[in-house]
Parts: sequence; C-alpha cells; structure tokens
Amino acid sequence: MNPSTIPPHHSPPTSPRFDLDGRIALVTGAGANGGIGHALALGLARAGARVAIADIDADGLAQTARELADFGPAPFARLADIAIADEVEAVFAGIDRELGRLDILVNVPFAFPSRVRPHELAAADWDRMLAVNLTGYFLCCQAALRRMLPAGQGSIINIGSNAGESALGRGALPYGCTKAAVHQMTRELAVEYAGAGIRVNAILPAQTLTPGLRAHLETPRFRDHVLPRILAGLPQGWLLDPEDYVGPAVFLASDAARAVNGVLLPVDGGNLAMNAGGSHTWPA
Ligand SMILES: NC(=O)c1ccc[n+]([C@@H]2O[C@H](COP(=O)([O-])OP(=O)(O)OC[C@H]3O[C@@H](n4cnc5c(N)ncnc54)[C@H](O)[C@@H]3O)[C@@H](O)[C@H]2O)c1
Repeated sequence: MNPSTIPPHHSPPTSPRFDLDGRIALVTGAGANGGIGHALALGLARAGARVAIADIDADGLAQTARELADFGPAPFARLADIAIADEVEAVFAGIDRELGRLDILVNVPFAFPSRVRPHELAAADWDRMLAVNLTGYFLCCQAALRRMLPAGQGSIINIGSNAGESALGRGALPYGCTKAAVHQMTRELAVEYAGAGIRVNAILPAQTLTPGLRAHLETPRFRDHVLPRILAGLPQGWLLDPEDYVGPAVFLASDAARAVNGVLLPVDGGNLAMNAGGSHTWPA
C-alpha cells in the first residue's frame, strides 16, 4: 500500500471518542442572553472541554462565565465584537496567555439589524451584516488556524443556517448571503487545511426557540402568520431548541469525527430535506 494512504495513528481508534476531556475550546457569541452559543458553551464544558467565551454583551458573557465555573476553574471570558480585528486578536492573545493552546473554535454570533425589502436596505446595515456574519467568522477562523497549525490539530465549527441553502424571503437577503458565504468558507478552509490535521465543519440550524424567536412570538402578526409557515417547513413538527445543537457540536469537535471535514450538517428537523410539495401531515 502507498504509505501516504495509511491513516495517521496507524491503528484507528477501536471505539469512537466522543468526549472532549482536556480540550481547550473557544465559543464566540456565548452570552447567556443569546441562545445557541450559550447552549454550546455549556454543552462543550459538560463534554469535558475547558471553554473560553467571547461576546459583545457584557451581562450575558458574565452570566455564562458564572455557569461555566460549575465545570472547573473560572473561564476565560472576553468582551469582544468579532467584526473588529483588534478585538478578535485580543481574545486569542488572552487565550494564548491564560490557556496556552486552542483545540476547538465554535463561531456563533450573527447580526440582522434590519428586516426590509432588499431595494430598501441601507448600505450600513448590509455592511454590518457582512462584517459580523462573514468577516468576523473569517477573522476568528484565521486566528484559530494560526494557533492550530503549529499544533497539527484542531476542529473549527461555524454556525451556518438553513437560510444559507435556500431563500427565506422577508428581508433575509443579506443574512442569507452571509450564511451561504460561511458555508463556502467552511468548505474552502476544510480543503485548505485537511492535510494539516485541522477540520472545519458547519452546523446548519433551522428556526430555533431562542430568546430572539421568543420575542417575535409575542407579536400576533408573527405568531399568526409566520409561525404556521415555519412549522409547515419543519417535518419534525416543532421548533428546534438550542440544546439540539450540543450533540452534533460535541461530535464534530471530537475525535469521533476525525474523518468528517468540510461538512455542512443540517440540524434542522428535516427542513432542508423537504420538497415544496412535501408535507409531514396527511390530508384528512
Ligand atoms: N435562532 C434561529 O432560529 C437560527 C436559525 C438558523 C441559524 N441560526 C444561527 O445560529 C446562530 C445563533 O443564533 P441565536 O439565535 O442563538 O443568536 P442569539 O442572538 O440568540 O445569540 C448570538 C450571540 O452572539 C452575540 N453577538 C452578536 N453580535 C456579536 C458580535 N459582533 N461579536 C460577538 N458576539 C456577538 C450576542 O450577544 C448573542 O449572545 C447564528 O449564527 C444564527 O445565524 C439561528
């Protein structure tokens, strides 16, 4: 056999290793006033990782830090806007100083400052969505790669969206464009660094009961008109919960996924699998 075809660590693991014991992870957008990032930070810590966090929201960040302290030493927590290169660099420099290494990066934040028809979109809102949802993810990936390359290993997970694979309408154009770009960035980075032992994957959520969606549900217009549309597109019949992403993220971060690279993993209750004529209910 050509030696280059032999997998690393010649004998593959006899049992998949789903735990993250001893791993150092950074979750951006992990503030407790958010949804998925908060759940992922605690979920990775429950799986054994030492989790550092960053967020733009000071109160949410402090709350998540208090909750993470139940799993070990006080976590590294840094207020940062991922769209600002200096703030991203300060997060990673702090991790270098305090933790000495980075094994896992999970990128979660998003900006969606206005929901208007594309012809009415302000250039500043377009720019902000690109800056956070795409450039911010790239800056964090780049900083993580610079730490993971010398170590010869690492796992990066970007949070994408079903809205990056099919169109959501209702003013989602800039958001959808940024998510589609994150999906492609994930594949490009996966290919670029596969030979260096670094894996880059994305989780694609569907509509999730986060604080943001809970707030929308307070408005009758959303509850009566948008929610039924959402539920019709979710064959499982219910909204996702932030906890639904924890298992997939632990898997992608762990050695159990050592050959999983460049994957856009829908965690969406079957949303992207369903065709326009599809339905999870049968006519009476
Ligand atoms: N909630 C959904 O229904 C849904 C559906 C599909 C995809 N997603 C994706 O999942 C991810 C999380 O969504 P969510 O609804 O849990 O979000 P959220 O708004 O509830 O939480 C995001 C967190 O990111 C932080 N944040 C925002 N901008 C930031 C910035 N510039 N720098 C650092 N931190 C920042 C927020 O303070 C918050 O803590 C997003 O990438 C989103 O696009 C969500």
